[in-house]
Parts: sequence; structure tokens; C-alpha cells
Amino acid sequence: METSSSAKDKEKQVAALAAVTYIENGQVIGLGTGSTADYAIREIGKLVQNGLQIKAIPTSKKTQVLAESLHIPIIDSNSVDYIDVTIDGTDEFNDDMVLIKGGGGALLREKIVASMTRKQIIIADSSKQVAQLGLAFKLPIEVIPFASNYVMNQVRELGGACNIRQKEDKTFVTDQGNWILDADFGHIQDPKSLSHSLNKIVGLVCHGLFIDLADIIIVGKGNTVETILFETS
Ligand code: A5P
Repeated sequence: METSSSAKDKEKQVAALAAVTYIENGQVIGLGTGSTADYAIREIGKLVQNGLQIKAIPTSKKTQVLAESLHIPIIDSNSVDYIDVTIDGTDEFNDDMVLIKGGGGALLREKIVASMTRKQIIIADSSKQVAQLGLAFKLPIEVIPFASNYVMNQVRELGGACNIRQKEDKTFVTDQGNWILDADFGHIQDPKSLSHSLNKIVGLVCHGLFIDLADIIIVGKGNTVETILFETS
């Protein structure tokens, strides 16, 4: 069943509200990027206004602008050794808690922040939960512009038909000055193996497969949430 956009917004909002309850006074918080993360950031802004003391690390310039407008204290990512809690969105996730991220083009900083984070909370509306990763959403890949043709050829050899992302008739440029390839691999059956192969390509800065990086996924389902916890074996 298709979820209407207002129903999706409601689900994003309830997931965001549930996620902010994990934040404690004195913590360093990673702030994700995208419409779902924005709900959490606005909620964090309210908590800060009511006395919550945190320091935040944004995953994009856009998120930084929003956080600053809400008077959330921002710190440099290099000023800490780890981040306590990050709340971020996703474009897709599967039953193994593998994510595809990067729809907003912020995947590089998002992956760095997720790697620095002790408790990574992913929030999503129910449409993001998929049985087969990669079918509905292409895999974003950040590339150094100088290497884009080489990387595209390498990605094609791995089975990913790809194009350089365009926005408003211009090449989309990331916060780091790089470009994004959107690669269609069809159903990504073995994300780990694909991730390893992509990581070997010189000039490829980051890809949007997030594996073993989510500790908690909170999915909005109507007016309520389902919380999925990563199980360590
Ligand atoms: C940003 O680059 C992405 O990884 C976002 O987290 C993702 O696209 C989710 O965005 P929405 O919450 O807007 O769907």
C-alpha cells in the first residue's frame, strides 16, 4: 500500500520524537541530513531552549544552518574523539539493518559521523523499509570530479549503470566539492561484497551502503513506532 506524503511526514515525525528521548545532558550529538533528520533537529532545538546542554556535529552545511537557527551549539568534528548519539535518516534499509544513504548528497560526512558514533539511531517512515535493497533507490557514490569517468567505468564493470547526479540542470556538487554518481545495481544481494569492491576504486570517495553502522532503527508506522535493535552475536 502506498503511503501518502502527509502520512509519511507523520511517520517521520513520530520516529524523530522517539529518537530524541535517547539524548542525555552533556552529550555530543551527531545531526543527520534530510527531511526526517530535520524533524529531530527541530525537536532537539526545543530541548536546548528548555535547558538541555549538548554539543552538536552537523553532517551537512544545510543541517548546520538549521541547527544554528535553533541555537543548538555546534562544535568541530575534530574537537572530539567520539560522538555519543547520532540521529540520521535513510533512503532505504533492509532486515539486516544495511542502509542506502546519500539521497541528499551528504553521505560522506554522514558516514564519518556514523563511524565516530557510539549509538547511531536511524529514523525513517515505513516506506524506507525494503525487502530488496537497491531496487527502488539507486546507490549514491561520491567521486572526485577529476576521476569521475574512470570511476563510472569501474562501477559499470561491477554491474552498476550510473549517471552523474544533476540538480536544476547543473552537476550536483557536494559540501566537499565532489560529484555524486547514482548507480543502479538492481537488487543488491551482497552489500558487503559490493562495498568492498567499491572501496577499492581509486577516486571513489564514499558510497552510500552503510553496513554495521546502525545501532537502532526507529520506523514510524502510522501514529506509532517500531524500534529495531542491532543484535550483536
Ligand atoms: C542525505 O544524504 C541522506 O542520506 C538522507 O539521510 C536520506 O536521503 C534521507 O532523507 P529524507 O529523510 O529526506 O528521506
